Amino acid sequence: MRQKMAAGNWKLNGTSATLVELQALAEAYGTAGVDVLICPPASLLHRAAEVAKGSAVTLGGQDCHAAVSGAHTGDTSAEMLKDAGATAVILGHSERRADHFETDATVCAKAEAAMASGLITIVCLGESLEQREAGETLDIIGAQLAGSVPAGATGDTLVVAYEPIWAIGTGKVPTLEQIGEVHAFLRAQLILRFGGEIGGAVRLLYGGSVKPGNAAEIFAVGDVDGALVGGASLRAADFSPIIAALEAA
Ligand code: 13P
Repeated sequence: MRQKMAAGNWKLNGTSATLVELQALAEAYGTAGVDVLICPPASLLHRAAEVAKGSAVTLGGQDCHAAVSGAHTGDTSAEMLKDAGATAVILGHSERRADHFETDATVCAKAEAAMASGLITIVCLGESLEQREAGETLDIIGAQLAGSVPAGATGDTLVVAYEPIWAIGTGKVPTLEQIGEVHAFLRAQLILRFGGEIGGAVRLLYGGSVKPGNAAEIFAVGDVDGALVGGASLRAADFSPIIAALEAA
């Protein structure tokens, strides 16, 4: 049985005042039936860890550098995230691939560093609308998976998030059949590459306009082990029902 995961990606949102939302989550989830992860901006990570201490809410970064340390102004290493209180990191989000020209190879190198630091590594992939309309979705997803996931991945270290670019922040969600098709494909590819034990243990999250109103039906799709949530993770009142839907799934 794969442990389900409700992950929140705060993106470029959050200052000290936003920690009240994390506080509310931490108070609501002293324990939880699923993994609850919040990825605030790096600037908040240390204080967020203090707020979440003793609760079931864990914390993650939104990116890391592939190097442990060195002359890389503005970057944060996996070790630094861990030191600040993170147990996980999101890598290869489509916004980083677009804004920072990250390639599969870049993401793979970062994922290796994150895994070496013992962080749960959430590798994101997803197709654009043009690619979906051209019937290229599985080819694109397969190539991103092959190129972005390092050889040493295990069920403990790797989580894969399927986030169709056209569904992020748009309110548009793929059909349940489309989600199921991609997740089944990801599962098959992982088993092909890593064998049944590891490939069967890697958690697969869906991300893209997950809201309290659509979470339950998405969580009922085969091989959906949870969600990576953007906008609806910013407020405890929105994220809590998503966590509850996952606990009930
Ligand atoms: P939204 O939930 O805001 O669509 O964002 C999804 C996402 O990009 C999570 O990483």
